[in-house]
Formats: sequence, structure tokens, C-alpha cells
Amino acid sequence: MGVILIGMMGSGKTTVGRLLASRVGGNFADLDDLVEERAEMSVREIFETQGEAKFRALEREALSSVRLDERSVLAAGGGTPCNSVNLVQMRKMAPLAYLRVPVNLLVERLADAPSVRPKLDSGIEAAIRELLKEREEIYETADFVVDASASPSIVVEDLRGRLGW
Ligand code: S3P
Repeated sequence: MGVILIGMMGSGKTTVGRLLASRVGGNFADLDDLVEERAEMSVREIFETQGEAKFRALEREALSSVRLDERSVLAAGGGTPCNSVNLVQMRKMAPLAYLRVPVNLLVERLADAPSVRPKLDSGIEAAIRELLKEREEIYETADFVVDASASPSIVVEDLRGRLGW
């Protein structure tokens, strides 16, 4: 069994996922990276030249290409589970773990790196609040909801306990 990390931009899916995989000897994949490799373009370039709908189609294709081995970890994009077809597929692939982080901390973390995330171009705090309002209900349906405001190491140990890894 593997695990899929979901949650908002800035919740630490990539950092925590990488660390978790390395601690348990599993593979790590980041869905945005897979999209970028397949498209040979950055997420920002895809949004800017082809629009969000195209990005979502590429994200869907990339998700379909993922095979999760024992103890492998997939960091989804923030919007990945918001497509109901993706969500059904993700549930079949592995348990879902929601990395929950309060808005103020997300904003603080994202303030450093907004330029790689086109969904934040209109202003970080307003965008995060709006997206979280739309998405929280979906995120909360995960198999595990983890407090991800702590350091990555602590979040990883919490996940390992829940997964029995
Ligand atoms: C998005 C999150 C990003 C990336 C894209 C859209 C979103 O991934 O997929 O910019 O809609 O929340 P991260 O959550 O890994 O930043």
C-alpha cells in the first residue's frame, strides 16, 4: 500500500512526502512534476499558454499514469482531488492523507514562492481563503487528517504511525 498526500498549496505535500518516502524506503512522486515532465513545460507556462482547463486535463492524464508500489508516496496538486473522477481514482490507488494547515500559516509559507503558483497571482491570502472554502469539504473526506502545521519531521512521524509504517 502507498499513500497520497492532499491539501492546499503550501501545506507541505512535497516536503513531507519526500521525507516520508526516504524514511520508509519508498518511492516519491510529485504530480506537478509528472505533469511538467510530460508537457515539457512548467505549470506556470501551461496555465499561461494553454489555460487552466488544459492543465487539469494534463493533471488527469498524469494521475492515470501513476502506479503506487508498497510504501510509495504521491504528492497530489492542491486541485487534484477537486475533480470527482480524480478523487474516485485516487481512492482506489491508496489511502488519502490531508495535510491540514491553518490559513495564516499557509499564507506565511506561500509568501516566499508565489510566482510558481498561478492560482495565487490575484493575491495570496484572498486566493487561499477562497480556494480553501471551496475545497475543505473535499479534503476533509481523506482517510487521515493530519495537523501539518508542525515541522515536516513531526508530520512524517504522525503519518507513519497512522499508516503502520
Ligand atoms: C494548484 C496547486 C499546485 C499546482 C497548480 C494548481 C491548485 O500544486 O497543481 O499550480 O489548484 O491548488 P501544489 O499544491 O503542489 O502547489
